[in-house]
Amino acid sequence: MAEGIKIIKGNIVFTPSFGQLEVFENSFILIEGKTVKGIYRELPAEYTHMAVTDYQNALIIPGFVDLHFHAPQFANRGLGLDLELLPWLERYTFPEEAKYTNIAYAQAVYKQVVTELWKWGTTRVACFGTIHRAATAKLLELLALAGLGGYVGKVNMDRNSPSSLIETTAQSLADTEDYIKATIDRYELVKPIITPRFVPTCSPELMTGIAKLAQKYNLPVQSHLSENAGEIAWVKELHPECPNYAGVYHRFGLFGQQPTIMAHCIHNDDAEIALMAQSKVYVAHCPYSNNNLASGIAPIRKYLDNGIAVGLGSDVAGGHEVSIARVMTMAVQVSKLKWLATDKSEKFFTIPEVFYLATKGGGSFFGKVGSFEAGYEFDALVIDDSSLEVSACNQYSVEDRLSRFIYIGDYHNIVARYVAGAKIEQPQL
Ligand code: GUN
Ligand code: FE
Repeated sequence: MAEGIKIIKGNIVFTPSFGQLEVFENSFILIEGKTVKGIYRELPAEYTHMAVTDYQNALIIPGFVDLHFHAPQFANRGLGLDLELLPWLERYTFPEEAKYTNIAYAQAVYKQVVTELWKWGTTRVACFGTIHRAATAKLLELLALAGLGGYVGKVNMDRNSPSSLIETTAQSLADTEDYIKATIDRYELVKPIITPRFVPTCSPELMTGIAKLAQKYNLPVQSHLSENAGEIAWVKELHPECPNYAGVYHRFGLFGQQPTIMAHCIHNDDAEIALMAQSKVYVAHCPYSNNNLASGIAPIRKYLDNGIAVGLGSDVAGGHEVSIARVMTMAVQVSKLKWLATDKSEKFFTIPEVFYLATKGGGSFFGKVGSFEAGYEFDALVIDDSSLEVSACNQYSVEDRLSRFIYIGDYHNIVARYVAGAKIEQPQL
């Protein structure tokens, strides 16, 4: 038997392009090592002697990608969500993140975080840690132990932050470089990422310094952009020399000079949108968070029409849901409000469209991830939705079953998970 070949059978569903759903009922997916070799309705003769993992009537879909997640805010889910961004950060988020000087606390929460991501079918995540190098390295280690893939950032904050959660510029740069060196070659699927929290908490010297580190170590960048009116006004005050908020990151080398994710992007003007497109910046769309913090509804259709890549983010704990399936439903719901608010000019999303954003849209930030086309890393969820059936009279198509799982299913329906070709079991951390 050929080494490293797996054959899996079920109802295979994925989106090779935005809005285009491919369905292969009762079909075989052939995986060699980490990657998909092909999908077959009938197994070619050369493979018929091999063992097949038959998931029978289950759905097999790409793993979910969370493009924006704050692991140290996990304990704060559901707290302070009757506030706007800046008071929420000050009263709830910063005091919680300050606790991560304590590595025992960090380890206890991060174990739960990793288990929860696994549980809800998130297979790749772009994650913020805190300013603390040791705690953040621990998070990376736990994700790798669980077999999940991701980028994890040690956060940088050297201004406008409470005394319990601030670094000097020099310390921030030194700790970031130490963190990079300790983690960059350590794990195959989990890597460091440069993570300025946002412009208000990063001095020009710090932004310049971490941009140099991103270049030196060839690392991606993640941050927040144009989430809230108060935040945007503050950035304008801090940087009157720059044309706009995106321009601040761009000026200091943190806007597409390396692959970049910007969370939220709700209130960008046309000049910023042009810069986002030109700089190939990814947008992490976080509709739960945007509702909770009264931030607004991001013009995601407009970004896509401008050729900007978009993925979905939970933004835990601005968002209170870890589940990317829930985030998909919220993305559809807020897109309908946007449609109404734009005189029905910005079309709302279809299920295949948000399914794309949740898989290949965000997944492409990680390489060939988020699809079952040949050559893609095999990240998958096996969905047993039999508990969602109503009666034998209701015959649902595969498309309908996917929609119903997304809207009314939960982690109980996810019966197997794969990342980069490997089946990952419940983490034993
Ligand atoms: N902007 C700066 N920090 C944060 C954060 O932790 N969450 C959100 N939603 N926005 C931010
Ligand atoms: Fe965030």
